[in-house]
Amino acid sequence: MLLCLKNISLNAGFFSSAIRVPVMEPIRYLIRTSDISAGGTRYTLALQSEDFSAMYPGMVRFTLMVTDGERMIAVFRTNSFEYSPLVPLAAEKVALQKAEEWEREIRNNPLVFMHNYQQKSPVHPAASESDLVVIQGSPRADGNCSILASWAVDAAHERGRTAQVIYPHDMDIRCCIGCYQCYNTGSCVFDDDMTGIIGAIKGSSLLVVCSPVYTNTVPGGLKLAIDRCQAYHAERVLSGGPTGQHGLIFSVAGRKGEGNFNCTTKVISAFLSNLGIKPEGEILIDHVDAIRDIRTIAGLEQNVKEKVKQYLGREKLPDK
Ligand SMILES: Cc1cc2nc3c(=O)[nH]c(=O)nc-3n(C[C@H](O)[C@H](O)[C@H](O)COP(=O)(O)O)c2cc1C
Repeated sequence: MLLCLKNISLNAGFFSSAIRVPVMEPIRYLIRTSDISAGGTRYTLALQSEDFSAMYPGMVRFTLMVTDGERMIAVFRTNSFEYSPLVPLAAEKVALQKAEEWEREIRNNPLVFMHNYQQKSPVHPAASESDLVVIQGSPRADGNCSILASWAVDAAHERGRTAQVIYPHDMDIRCCIGCYQCYNTGSCVFDDDMTGIIGAIKGSSLLVVCSPVYTNTVPGGLKLAIDRCQAYHAERVLSGGPTGQHGLIFSVAGRKGEGNFNCTTKVISAFLSNLGIKPEGEILIDHVDAIRDIRTIAGLEQNVKEKVKQYLGREKLPDK
């Protein structure tokens, strides 16, 4: 049996939501602008492009905006990654066509235009926040990863910190469809349980991903959640996000040997890094098919708890 405890860094501390990662500034061009007088109001329609090539080769986002003075009335965005090779459309053409369509509609009847397109902010239930978030990737609610997750939660509570465990397999999570629309808005086109998961990740100081090895990688439910976090990655690219969060990887494999974790740890590491979360260390337990119950491994619970406490920092003093 191999119990692998890897320390990548020993820096403990708290992330502060006041510190945000700097936004990557794209190169912007104004493609067209027109002033439209209709119904006694003067509207401005502007189309601009932003070149994100420094981060994503060839990605250009087009934003069409209608304002009346200071007020933003409608926004349409599209980007060059949205269109698959066999789709006979290009983002710039779509944006220019939309600009012509909107100009026509405003001239014809600005009130109908306002009714159809006026910006509405989506209403999302507030995500519950906690210091520790554990994403438990096994579909088995009473398996070994669940035991690891419960130890992590106990460690947080022993430190006076809040904790929650997320079970992607039990949640409503659509599969990422690669539409790249998250690069237009910073959010996903689907409104499902991912909204809460992303909110919880954003609000945590330590994120633990706990996963069994399934066919050398992570189970499907966890992979759905990982891929859908691309929207949060896009949001960070466009608007910045928290920094200083820590990440830990816990994994169990049925077979014997460290090589069984190669792919799983790479997937989870890439996931954490994509979200600006530093992968700080790993606890990898192999040969579990023979061990059956990881509670029989001497010292493991202690190791897990120490690792979690190390990255949750010192005990939180009660509020006065
Ligand atoms: C569909 C499936 C695929 C698996 N693939 C692997 C694998 O590729 N390598 C491995 O070492 N163990 C593999 N296992 C064994 C699990 O990693 C092992 O049983 C683990 O303890 C399950 O974690 P859990 O108790 O948290 O559910 C697989 C198990 C299942 C059900």
